Amino acid sequence: MILDRIRMEKLREKVMTADEAALFIKDGMTLATSGFTPSGYPKAVPLALAKRAENGEEIGVTLITGASVGDELDGALSRAGVLKRRFPYQTNNDSRNGINAGTVAYQDMHLSHVPQFIEYGFFGNIDIAIIEALAITEEGNIIPTTSVGISPQAVAEADIVIVEINTSQSMALEGVHDIYMTKKPPFREPIPITHSGDRIGTPYITCDPEKIVAIVECDIADKVRPLGAIDEDSKKISQHIIKFLEAEVAAKRLPKNLLPLQSGVGSVANAVLGGLVESDFDNLTCYTEVIQDSMFDLIDAGKVTIASGTSFTPSEEGLIRLNENMEHYAKHCILRPMEISNHPEVARRLGVIAMNTAIEFDIYGHVNSTNIMGSRMMNGLGGSGDFTRNAYLSFFTTVSTAKNGDISSIVPFVSHVDHTEHDVEVFVTEQGLADVRGLCPTERARAIIENCAHPNYKEMLLDYLNRAETGKFSHEPHLMDESHSWHDRFLKTGSMKK
Ligand code: COA
Repeated sequence: MILDRIRMEKLREKVMTADEAALFIKDGMTLATSGFTPSGYPKAVPLALAKRAENGEEIGVTLITGASVGDELDGALSRAGVLKRRFPYQTNNDSRNGINAGTVAYQDMHLSHVPQFIEYGFFGNIDIAIIEALAITEEGNIIPTTSVGISPQAVAEADIVIVEINTSQSMALEGVHDIYMTKKPPFREPIPITHSGDRIGTPYITCDPEKIVAIVECDIADKVRPLGAIDEDSKKISQHIIKFLEAEVAAKRLPKNLLPLQSGVGSVANAVLGGLVESDFDNLTCYTEVIQDSMFDLIDAGKVTIASGTSFTPSEEGLIRLNENMEHYAKHCILRPMEISNHPEVARRLGVIAMNTAIEFDIYGHVNSTNIMGSRMMNGLGGSGDFTRNAYLSFFTTVSTAKNGDISSIVPFVSHVDHTEHDVEVFVTEQGLADVRGLCPTERARAIIENCAHPNYKEMLLDYLNRAETGKFSHEPHLMDESHSWHDRFLKTGSMKK
């Protein structure tokens, strides 16, 4: 019963159906919504909007979210032709197809930039904020659900707000959020977080109740994504990282309980963190963006005391586990606005250990996280750049080959650059780990080829480097006519092998 969840009595008269609420949305509008990974995004109103287009109405919108959202939003709006412009990250098949076909204009952005782009007016006017909520407080403030993302800035800057109260979300989530807003320059102040567990804000998003024009009931659960089983390669990657971290502790470059961990999205990232369950490390903290299944394992094993993020990102099984034990996990987790979870200032101050996954990296250390063969958008770079550039130590992981060994994930020159050679300290594949701190480009190249490349491609990569080194300039030598020939060969023959 949603009336119990609308604690400000006068707002109860704003309850309406999703179809009625969707009528506030007009052609050409910019919508900023809740949602980060397929968690805490609005569902009923986007479905109602898609239905209008399916019934023949001409309507197109710009959509800004925290990160990826579920099919009811990205998928339904893409299939109905409503999604015209999209920021800043997605993982949905239909929106990905629209982006790659050129029917959806997409800008892949650092996630920490998005909230301030909203506040600075860089996206233009925000017409409507659509926010999934657990409840509305006596004062009209909004309690988010399984993610926070851009919701505080969306609510603050939008002309009007539509709230979807989702009754499938556990009330035990109340209190888990910590909402803190920064001021705009030149009045911005230091963010007072010195430990992952610091609470500096309110458990709700401040909202002027006059802005709330519609409240809609929804009981559709988050459409979370499955996680791949932890395979042998991921286990090896995890073991290489743990061994390296142990050596860093022995060398007194890291404290015994490490520094706050950040771990990216996907199966490999989940496996890497999962490997810590069996390790000797304890009293760990996390300052990250997504709280995936392996974090629950670490909390249950007593290894992680506090995990700060902007969303719960469980698998289907993880969601059941989270819902059944919400009170337990809520004691160890904080959900913050993504402006704070991904803030370069905080990542640098805390000394985050960043661990993200690449599609490919090159011998000099440039990383492609997003565009397969240089042109096909996969997801987006998400928060990887926010953490990578500002970390105490930054790792990039990938399995050394893809597509049954026909692709080497280590190439002479990446086909698209998301992170540069200046951002990453450690590269890891199932083959081994290359620590490139303090190395010049050609030393880095030898370390990466030697430790990370698959044996089937090692000789080819060394041959490329050796021939490049005979050229006129020796600092970071390339054979420009040949540097992308590996990708070209795969596209033409189906294999990078000669
Ligand atoms: N060349 C071409 N394709 C490659 C490849 C390579 N070197 N390496 C992987 N792929 C393909 C895989 O074959 C797979 O394709 P498919 O979907 O057609 O099967 C796809 O890329 C994904 O690979 P997979 O190994 O399943 O990836 P993952 O689940 O570990 O995710 C990323 C890897 C890079 C896609 C994912 O981590 C990502 O989107 N990262 C960017 C965002 C980010 O880092 N956010 C974290 C901040 S918290």
